[in-house]
This record gives sequence, C-alpha cells and structure tokens, in this order.
Amino acid sequence: MYKFVINGGRKLAGEVVVSGAKNASLALMPASLLAPGVYSISNTPDLMDVSTMSKLMETLGARVTLAGTTQTIDTTRVKNFEAPYELVKKMRASIYVLGPLVARYGYAKVSLPGGCAWGPRPVNLHIEGMEKLGAEISLDSGYIVARAKKLRGGKINFDVSSVGATGNVMMAAVLAEGTTEIGNAALEPEIVALGEFLKKMGAKIEGLGTPTITVEGVSELHPHDFENIPDRIEAGTFLVAGALAGGTVNVANCEPRHLSALLSKLEEAGARLEIGNRFVKLEAPEKILPVDVSTAPYPGFPTDMQAQWIALMARSTGSSVVADNIYFDRFKHVPELIRLGADIEVKENIAFVKGVGALKGAKVMSTDLRASASLVLAGLVAEGTTEVLRVYHMDRGYEHIETKLGGIGADIRRVQSEEF
Ligand code: EPZ
Repeated sequence: MYKFVINGGRKLAGEVVVSGAKNASLALMPASLLAPGVYSISNTPDLMDVSTMSKLMETLGARVTLAGTTQTIDTTRVKNFEAPYELVKKMRASIYVLGPLVARYGYAKVSLPGGCAWGPRPVNLHIEGMEKLGAEISLDSGYIVARAKKLRGGKINFDVSSVGATGNVMMAAVLAEGTTEIGNAALEPEIVALGEFLKKMGAKIEGLGTPTITVEGVSELHPHDFENIPDRIEAGTFLVAGALAGGTVNVANCEPRHLSALLSKLEEAGARLEIGNRFVKLEAPEKILPVDVSTAPYPGFPTDMQAQWIALMARSTGSSVVADNIYFDRFKHVPELIRLGADIEVKENIAFVKGVGALKGAKVMSTDLRASASLVLAGLVAEGTTEVLRVYHMDRGYEHIETKLGGIGADIRRVQSEEF
C-alpha cells in the first residue's frame, strides 16, 4: 500500500502533458473483440484500470501488451466468453465486453458489477439495450447470461443518458442484422472516439456526438489501428490544481473543445486562460471567486470533475453550491476535505461550500478515483503536510500523478504505508 505525502503551499509552474483517455481506452479495448486480428491503439495510458481490462481480455483468450503508449491487442484466439466476478468487481467498465461478445459469438456471461464506493450503479440500461437487439438475457447467481443466434437491429431510447450503455449497445448493433437507432445517446467524446474506431473497422454509424445514433449492421468487421483521444478529466484535474495552488500551468496534449464547460467555470472563478489548439494555459486567480456548478451529461459540467471543483471552492472567497445530478451520493471526499479544514455541508445531492482562508494539512483517506484527486489537490494548497492514504484509487485513473505534479513544482512523494 502507498500513500502520498504532500507539503502544501507551493505554487505550480510549467507544462504538464496529458495522457490518453482512460474512459475511451476502456471502450476501445473490448471493441477489438468484434473482429479477430491484431490492433494497435496509440496514446494508451498506463493505468490500473487499463491493466484490469487487459487481464479481462486475456481471460477471454486475447493477448494484450503495452509498449510505451502503444497498446497491441490480438483477438485471433478469443475462445472464452465469461467475465469473472473477481475482475468485474474491480472495475465496472468490464461490462463493456457484453455487447461485443454477444454480437460476435452469440454468448456472454458477465458478472454483475455490484456497487462502487458511492453506492449502487445499475446496469439495467445495458441489459434492456441487449434485449431490444434480440438477446435473451437471464441472471444466474450474480452473472448476466446473454444469448443470441443473431442480433437484429432495433429502436432503443434510453430514459437516462448513459455513457456505458450507449457504448455497449453501439458495439452490439454494428454486427446486428438491420438498422439500430439509439435515442438519448451519450455525446461524450469517449463514445464518439469508440464510434470512430468502429467505423474504421468497417461499421456503418451515423450521428456520433448527437443524441441519436443510427447503426446499419454489417456482416463482419476488420481490425484497424487507432489513436486514442486525450483524457479530458486528467486535463481538467491539472487545470483545477493550477487554479487552486496558484501560479501558471500549461496543460499540453489536451483537447480544449472537450473541456468547454469547465473552462468557462474556471474563468468565472477568476482564472485567466490561453486556449490553444492542443493546450490550455492557466494563470491562477489572485483570489478564487465562488462559482456554482451543476453536473450534467456532456457537454455539461462533468460529474468526474465535481470532487475537484469542491476542493477549489473550499478556498474561494465566498459561498458556492455544487450539485451532482448524475450520481446523487458521490460526496465521499467531503468528510475528508472537512478534516483539512474545509467548510462544506451536503444535503442530498448538493454540497454547500463556504470558502475558508486556509486549509490545514492532515491525514486523509481516498475512497474512490476522483475523490482521491480532490484530496491531493487540497493537499497542494493546505498549510503543512497532508498524507493521502490508499493511493491505489488514484492509480486507477491518473498516470504517474506524483511525477506529473512534481514536474510542475508540487512537493509530493509516494511513500510505502502499512496504514489502511
Ligand atoms: C462513465 O461511467 C464513466 N466511466 C464514469 O467515469 C463517469 O462518471 C460516468 O460515465 C458519467 O459520466 C467510464 O466511462 C469507464 P453512465 P458509466 O452509465 O458509463 C445511470 C471515472 O471517474 N445508469 O453514463 O457507468 C447511472 O446510475 C468514472 O472515470 C442507470 O441508471 O456511467 C448514472 O446515474 C467514474 N442504468 C447515469 O446513468 C444503467 O444501466 C450515468 O451513468 C447505466 C447507468
């Protein structure tokens, strides 16, 4: 086990390079199950979640290697169609293998993911989507068992905009007989990237990045290489780090147009931004102004930036309201931020934040990926030393975070720790 030891109070300065998008990789990898062969996916991040997905793909018979940022996947010898609980419980995105396995092999047995740190995360939309494409689904001692001789196109309209369910249904539909229309589809860049990858593999997809995606099924697909998109949440996390700790940070190799909701909120909070084609340069505000945020599906303010935003507002000059409309109970970071001296009250899915003049270092506990990010950011600005325990949560979604933050002036060390 490791913890981060952070000595706060240092301004940030310099350039930090964003890695490939975790939430795109986790969809691109299972898409390679749709056609046997060898794939090369560049700009792949070296993350715990990516290695978990690699292990899952290997239990199915694929071979996955990562050399630098280029991932090579060989799905020629896929012969097992079951995603075991031991892997799925570690990472909910494992359910992404359901659609491709049913579409290509007519069978899939995927463990139900169970809950996560902040409560239940249902997969009903994934299951209903598969059924609409003609799959027979049964639940058998914690596993989803899906069977289909041949999937057939159908009309699906999601009650809730779901990134994962959109991706899963799209991957199933590309080999179904006939046309599939997905209504209230997710617009997230990671789903657009998945769709672009499927199109390079020969799929016929229209409407990517709009609420209605239409898929014309084809009889077979072929392997193709792909360059992954930059991680917009990693980029956003570094921008908030700069605004919070002070100084000037250049976030390079990002896609600014994937960040517009966050960028306008950062400007409202007083940050000065220079927005380039593939970079955003942020000059921290003298004083952090209080700015309300309400999360929404893309292109709204991302729920994956909610925890980091609360850390920023904890040091603002006034009061702000941060509502999470995607996950109503994603506030496990709040009690830990309070340990650092933040003044926050949560009522249902809304955090009421009163900015304080200073945060004070303390020992705090990571509970999930983005919560741990908010604690690290708060530690950058807290007086004295902050210890963030259970950093394996961070390693799921941030590549070498202490090296990247250290590279722009943070005093942060990864230290062995027996503390749980
Ligand atoms: C993706 O999760 C991301 N993960 C999450 O990022 C992100 O928080 C989430 O989208 C929302 O943007 C990956 O892409 C691997 P959803 P996903 O289905 O697909 C409800 C991170 O930090 N819902 O868009 O699981 C659900 O409860 C992770 O990188 C159903 O009701 O999210 C939620 O309220 C955390 N039934 C809403 O939809 C379903 O079958 C959006 O969830 C599926 C979802």
